[in-house]
Order: sequence, then structure tokens, then C-alpha cells
Amino acid sequence: MNLSTAQFSLIRDILHEKSGILISPDKQYLPEQRLPHLLRERNYQSLTSFLDDLKKCTDLQDDFINHMTTNETSFFRDRPIFNLLKTHLIPQLCAQKEHVRIWSAATATGQEAYSLAMTISELTAGHKNISIWGSDISSRAIEVARTGVYSAFEVRRGTTQEERTHYFTAHGNTYSVKAPYKSMVQFSVENILTDSLPHGTIDLLLCRNVAIYFDRPSQEVLYQRLHNALSESGILIIGGTESIRSGEKYFQRNKWGSLLYYTKKGGDTPSR
Ligand SMILES: C[S@@+](CC[C@H](N)C(=O)[O-])C[C@H]1O[C@@H](n2cnc3c(N)ncnc32)[C@H](O)[C@@H]1O
Repeated sequence: MNLSTAQFSLIRDILHEKSGILISPDKQYLPEQRLPHLLRERNYQSLTSFLDDLKKCTDLQDDFINHMTTNETSFFRDRPIFNLLKTHLIPQLCAQKEHVRIWSAATATGQEAYSLAMTISELTAGHKNISIWGSDISSRAIEVARTGVYSAFEVRRGTTQEERTHYFTAHGNTYSVKAPYKSMVQFSVENILTDSLPHGTIDLLLCRNVAIYFDRPSQEVLYQRLHNALSESGILIIGGTESIRSGEKYFQRNKWGSLLYYTKKGGDTPSR
């Protein structure tokens, strides 16, 4: 598929308005590669009629988001963070709180949320009072997350043989997350920039590798909303290669060896 400048602009604007994701002109190949699948699935014969419907049809826009988001993730992605969570941050939260609420925001297909459940199951005390919520804008990714079923490739990428045996049941070329870990996690479809979020109740928030897709104003909105979602001195973890420049006023930077994590600063900010 080749998009004209006007067609690319329309697609870029709808994606930005609906998700906060901004695709730069050098990434025009992304919609050119991804949209033909959507047109085929929806039986569109022409790009023009697809674009006409995309402007007004929310159901088509949701599917467009499903096709345009990059749901790249893996189990125990950035392993040292899970070690920090296990040895330090989660035990600290458990010592302070009766009930610890964890949110894996923009969880994609759920591997991050299940990795948290698996990590917590290894703690000797207090894990019964921990709830884990995973959310993403992509309804298709959340459908996969809810099944808890992954290909052998997806599971082998992030886990050791011992972890595969312990946490998964193998069926031929797929693995399913075992029931005790699956039951620790709830999933929902949420747009992190616009949907209503918990207020002041999240103790640990992982929002990794999503702000990189947003422009600066959307990053600012994101960090303000994450700040409001966190409980007093709640903890935020971002991606290993991300920085929080536009959110510095909301979060205190903390170091643990070479790892960074953030804690909520001050009081509330007006929410959008
Ligand atoms: C690269 S994945 C990161 C997954 C996981 N956090 C990780 O680090 O492995 C980025 C995810 O952000 C989601 N996303 C993008 N814009 C979003 C928005 N406005 N609200 C919620 N999720 C969004 C995408 O659907 C995608 O699944």
C-alpha cells in the first residue's frame, strides 16, 4: 500500500487523537504495512471508503488501534527490575500496607502482569493481599492476555526452563499460565490518556515502553495521570531506556544500584 501525503496525515491525526501515539513521517511505512490486513479483514475494496468510515466509525477506529499499536513485550522483560521488585520494593510495600495494589499499564498481551504474579508468588509472606491489574488500549492484546495462552516462542524468550515448568502447562507448541498465577491478575481495555483511572490507590505502577510512542504534550498528560493514580509515596517503574523528563515535577527519582525507580511527589494535580 502507498499512502499519499494527505492520506498519511489523516491516519496519523486519527491515531494521535485516539491513542496519543504520534507516527513521524519517516514511519509512514508502519500504516502502509499494517493497514492492508485491516482492509482485508473488513472487506474494504478501496482505501478511500476505508478512510471515509475511519473518520466516523468508532468500532472501526478501535480495530484500527489494534492494528496500529506495537504490542511488543516478553515475560520478565528487563529481568533486573523484577529482582528489585522481589527483593526490595514489593516486600517494602507489603510491610507498609494491608492491601497492595499493582497496575501494569499498557501491558500489551499480559506478560508483564503475569510476570508480576509469578514474582509475588515467590515471596514468603503477604502475597495474598496483593491485587494485580493489567490494562491496554488494544482490545485484541487484552483478549490474548485474558486467555493466558502463549506460543512456545513467546514463553521461551523470557523464561528459564525451571520457570516454564513451574509457572506454565505445556500443550504441544503453546503454554498456558497455570491457574494460581492466572487468577492473581485482572485485565481491562483502557486508554491511559483519556479513560477514568483509579485515584490515589495504586501502590506500584509499571508503565514501561509506552511513553516513547507519545509526543511531549501526551507524555505530560500521561505522567500527570499516573501521578494522580498513585497512592501517597506510590512507586512508578518506567522502561529501562526511557526517561521521565516531562514528568520530573511529579516524581522523585530513586536509584538502586544501576536501576531507577520513581516515587510520587507531593499532593494531587488537576486531572484531565
Ligand atoms: C511496546 S508495548 C509495551 C508493553 C509492556 N509495557 C512492556 O514494556 O513490555 C506498548 C503498549 O502500549 C499500548 N498503548 C499505546 N497507547 C496507549 C494508550 N493511549 N493507552 C493504553 N495503552 C496504550 C499499546 O497497545 C502497546 O500494547
